[in-house]
Amino acid sequence: MHKEKLLMTPGPTMVPPSVLETLGRQIIHHRTKEFRNIFKDLNDSLKYIFQTQNHILTFSSSGTGAMESVIANLFSAGDKVVVASIGVFGDRFAKIAEAFGLNVDLISVEWGKAVDPQLIKQKLDDDKQNEIKAVIVTHNETSTGVTNDIKAVGRIVSKTNKLFIIDAISSIGGIDIQADNWGIDVIVGSSQKALMTPPGLAFVSVSPKAWEAHKNSKLPKFYWNYSAYRKGLEQNMPDAPYTPAVTLMIAQNQAINLIKEEGLQNIFERHKRLAFATQAGAEALGLKLFPDKAVSSYIITAIKAPEGIDTEEVRKIMNQKYDIMVTGGQQHLKGKIIRIGHCGYVDRFSLIKVFTAMEYALKESGYPVELGAGVSAVEKALY
Ligand SMILES: Cc1ncc(COP(=O)(O)O)c(C=O)c1O
Repeated sequence: MHKEKLLMTPGPTMVPPSVLETLGRQIIHHRTKEFRNIFKDLNDSLKYIFQTQNHILTFSSSGTGAMESVIANLFSAGDKVVVASIGVFGDRFAKIAEAFGLNVDLISVEWGKAVDPQLIKQKLDDDKQNEIKAVIVTHNETSTGVTNDIKAVGRIVSKTNKLFIIDAISSIGGIDIQADNWGIDVIVGSSQKALMTPPGLAFVSVSPKAWEAHKNSKLPKFYWNYSAYRKGLEQNMPDAPYTPAVTLMIAQNQAINLIKEEGLQNIFERHKRLAFATQAGAEALGLKLFPDKAVSSYIITAIKAPEGIDTEEVRKIMNQKYDIMVTGGQQHLKGKIIRIGHCGYVDRFSLIKVFTAMEYALKESGYPVELGAGVSAVEKALY
């Protein structure tokens, strides 16, 4: 019997039925009043989610494309930026900046830990020549299941003339991010995680300080040129410079309707409760968290492999036998951690299913499990 896979990964995540329904509709043309109304709604709603008055640019792209757009649009070759990396995606931002000829001062933090905001403060205090143009931080490092304290970093960076740029691809709409209150100049987000829409849209919010940097940027850009997107947004009714991913934008609008119905604060609370329940379930099975508990993410929980157990084997059983997909470790963490995404369209029953399948799979991989121990802890935590 073919069963629908339950994706409990950090993205793509499950898409709610009313959003799926929009994906099967006939296409509409983007140079019409109908589309412009849809685009206006999307822009207004994104401001609610990003908690900003700044323009938010929408790209037909995955998150990485939008990360690249940030570098191409705000800098020139040779510019110095501080990148705080706590895993795969922080490293990626540094690599993109290097690919464009920027001078990257990398703060490389041990995987499983968050960056200490004081390290960033120190870098900025030491910058007597005023060379640093920006501080780039991953909000939620999906590869390790760690969330950085961007509010604290914002307090430091916003007092300077540097830009504060965050990758919030896996957290926007799932964990509280207050762009304007916390002094965040640029936020990169994407559709396929907490925003409950298929992959293919990426969003970048741009503060007035970042628009100033854009004016001075000399790196080559055409499709990604922010000026073209801004011009479209500043018309009476917004317009997109090139053919946009119309269907995905309609789907994203519907997903945002659901977000508004539930309310952002309730959504943040739901993710937090799901995270604490996942931690409780893991502990009840004698499993340890990979990150420090204090910085463990609310949208993805990374759990260490028990002694002698290969998490790739556990994942394979969960996927092939029980139709539940979670993710494993990346790079040197392959086989060593299992990452359970609890992001977007998930509730207590999704998590109970995951723990049922994980208990079976662990048992079948040779780990002694008292069936029901994890499930019971999850159930109690979410009651
Ligand atoms: C924190 C973070 N940054 C960047 C990316 C890359 O996004 P994409 O795969 O959409 O290009 C991801 C994807 O998982 C992510 O979680």
